[in-house]
Amino acid sequence: MLPHERPPLPPADLNRINPAIWPRTSGRTDGTLTIGHVDVRDLAREHGTPLFVLDEHDVRARMRDYVTAFAGSDVHYAGKAFLCREIVRWLHDEGLGLDVASGGELAVALSVGFPPERITMHGNNKSVAELTRALEVGVGRIVVDSYEEIARLGHLAERHGKRPKVMIRVTTGVEAHTHEFIATAHDDQKFGLSLSAGAAAEAVRRILALPSLELVGLHSHIGSQIVDTAGFEVAARRLAGLLVQIKDEHGVVLPELDLGGGYGIAYVEDDEAPDVKEIADGLREIVTKVCEDAGLPVPRLTVEPGRAIVGPGGVTLYEVGTVKDVEGLRTYVSVDGGMSDNVRTALYGADYTVTLASRASTAEPMLSRVVGKHCESGDIVVRDCFLPSDLAPGDLLAVAATGAYCRSLASNYNYLPKPAVVAVADGAARVIVRGETEDDLLRGQL
Ligand SMILES: Cc1ncc(COP(=O)(O)O)c(C=O)c1O
Repeated sequence: MLPHERPPLPPADLNRINPAIWPRTSGRTDGTLTIGHVDVRDLAREHGTPLFVLDEHDVRARMRDYVTAFAGSDVHYAGKAFLCREIVRWLHDEGLGLDVASGGELAVALSVGFPPERITMHGNNKSVAELTRALEVGVGRIVVDSYEEIARLGHLAERHGKRPKVMIRVTTGVEAHTHEFIATAHDDQKFGLSLSAGAAAEAVRRILALPSLELVGLHSHIGSQIVDTAGFEVAARRLAGLLVQIKDEHGVVLPELDLGGGYGIAYVEDDEAPDVKEIADGLREIVTKVCEDAGLPVPRLTVEPGRAIVGPGGVTLYEVGTVKDVEGLRTYVSVDGGMSDNVRTALYGADYTVTLASRASTAEPMLSRVVGKHCESGDIVVRDCFLPSDLAPGDLLAVAATGAYCRSLASNYNYLPKPAVVAVADGAARVIVRGETEDDLLRGQL
């Protein structure tokens, strides 16, 4: 720790399972963490560690919360957060649509019969093969991201005798992160067509000139882990301005507006996750007002939450391998996974909450850092935390809110197999993604 950094304060109760951070069905029974009424020691015994545990009730409830709060609009789950066949089945049951960002994500959805018309395809560099597949199966929307793609898709659609519905990904110049938003500077990025530079308006012209494409709306995604709606307001205003411009220039009123995802969740004690109903009411009000002010009919709204659906219901279980006290600094606790199952700490400096899961402890708190087993000193799972000072090899640790952007960003760095994902509910656990084996790692090696 650098001299100017003050150590964080230990929490009042190291054993507390804060319901704002942990899955809705989690708690302690006789000191041990349970999720979905399943004892984590049983999960570790049966499925090994590291292990992703997904609380089915939690994830499904959040899906329903979004559908209810956004009644009259479309909720498309952003599959990049975490996608597998079972999640697709849950989406289907709960009435959501799906956003895919690649042919692979599309294949997962189609493999279990998800209706293609409820799928939106994203990506700044979709291949001809991906676009062709999207056309063949008839995905509901394709969000175009460049002039090249407009020409490419127009040509492919004509060749296949199709007329796909397309939206334009507009760079509104707003990038929002958590507590602040910057409304001027973020045209400098790979996604979208700039509003201020006129590229979005030019994309409209090009699409309208192609009879093989049907332009249905505008799309904007302003960032991730956003906790207030101020940035959406700026983006919505700017998009409405473009809708007016399109109406004036072409006499066309576009019927749809997609405001993307990015709704924040609580990772640590001080985080405040926005309430989904407040988000929905806020966005609807903003869009209605800006459109009415501009004399436009209110378009049908789509939102694309990823993290907020699947993040809070996920927990990663690890087994402690070594506990190393670095005198005067902190204790390094090494676990059996690391940046290969959770790269967010190394990639974004993300914060997490961790607890001793296999038992409760009344020992003194010790300032700790949970690290992985990879050959990188940046291989950190939880940067600053307190764990009980009687922590020992063989104990299980649980890290909260790992349902989103952990398994989906997992790698085989150092040839570690990717962990299994089990869904827990009502006292039972079932594997929804099989853990990789050494055979999986060797497959494809010539
Ligand atoms: C276009 C688009 N929609 C939705 C999302 C989902 O964001 P989140 O998981 O933060 O809700 C993303 C995330 O990068 C995105 O790029």
